[in-house]
Amino acid sequence: MEMAQYGRTPQGGVNRQALSTEDAMARRVLVTWAELLGLTVGTDVVGNLFMRLQGTNPEAAPVVTGSHIDSQPTGGRFDGVYGVLAGLEAIQAIREAGIVPKRSLELAVWMNEEGSRFAPGMMGSSVFSGSRTLDSVLSVIDAQGISVGQALEEIRNEFPDIPLWPLERRLHAYIEAHIEQGPVLEREGITIGVVTGIQGKRTFRVSVSGEEAHAGTAARSERRDALLAAVELIQAIKALCEDDEDLVKFTVGRLDVKPNAPSVVPAEAVFSIDLRHPDSSKLQSLGDQLLDLCAYEYERCAVSIQELSAAPSLEFPDSIRSLIRRTAEDQSISCMDILSKAGHDARYLHYVCDTGMIFIPCKDGISHNEAESATERDLADGARVLVGVLLGLST
Ligand code: GLV
Ligand code: MN
Ligand code: MN
Repeated sequence: MEMAQYGRTPQGGVNRQALSTEDAMARRVLVTWAELLGLTVGTDVVGNLFMRLQGTNPEAAPVVTGSHIDSQPTGGRFDGVYGVLAGLEAIQAIREAGIVPKRSLELAVWMNEEGSRFAPGMMGSSVFSGSRTLDSVLSVIDAQGISVGQALEEIRNEFPDIPLWPLERRLHAYIEAHIEQGPVLEREGITIGVVTGIQGKRTFRVSVSGEEAHAGTAARSERRDALLAAVELIQAIKALCEDDEDLVKFTVGRLDVKPNAPSVVPAEAVFSIDLRHPDSSKLQSLGDQLLDLCAYEYERCAVSIQELSAAPSLEFPDSIRSLIRRTAEDQSISCMDILSKAGHDARYLHYVCDTGMIFIPCKDGISHNEAESATERDLADGARVLVGVLLGLST
């Protein structure tokens, strides 16, 4: 709840977008808490933040936990930050119990998971894991024209004393705790979701170009209305994505119209597409059909589309899943297997080390919404299971 003060909204949610002032304030308080625990703090060139409890064998690759502290513009108090604070709590509990693990334990805060201010998301974890190049993210700009590179420099200047750790490091394992962001655990009355994998996702940016004209005088036959064209195209994609099983998830969450004036025919409409499906081949073919739809003109307007990210569905290894299951069962905490429909930094860490995720229920499955909520009991149980899993991997 203290973290939720940084970027809090009047409706009780959080607006703490990547590399913003609010993000810097939240980093400051985290670093303070970590230093009080005697953790060693480091960062890297892509703005990830690390807090390390040194193990008895500092040469051994560390066991890492964490998530993100950036939020959607109307985000909740738990998405991401829960995994970070559960990790801090777990490390504190381990320290206070007088246990010194063999492998170092590291808490990671990945830069820009949400991809709201700077798209696409998961920048920190994807660059860390070598899935994207540093250069490819540095030039991304926000709506104000500020680049990731500039924003990173500003945040570095806020924390001049935190040393830069190398981007390429070997990790032993990565475990991320997170609220489910869906309704399954709550509906089933189960506390812990043993995450089996993450569904695939492709994201795109579509630009539709028309021509400005007078709303009172321009003839219909002569208009090149970019917004009407975008609406037609979005309807066509929606029809393509309708399936009986409701497995295809198609979202246009952002639409920018220019000049955005009531009496001017829109000259440009730019919108985002977030497309997801648990079956990678289905996701691939739907995305390709969507690209085909963008090859046409609509309302005499030209369409151009850029794919921003493409990630197939993935499965976490059995070894980590059974460790999470055993740890929950040992503590008599109920658990079940569950597929993550939301994306997470764990997606990218899974390319470089054994990775798994621990879900806990959230109220009514609501997320990416200021009303997001979770019970103290579930939050604490998730952290308890996390402690056991971290110890299982590090001793
Ligand atoms: C992550 O926030 C996602 O959109 O899945
Ligand atoms: Mn998240
Ligand atoms: Mn999110």
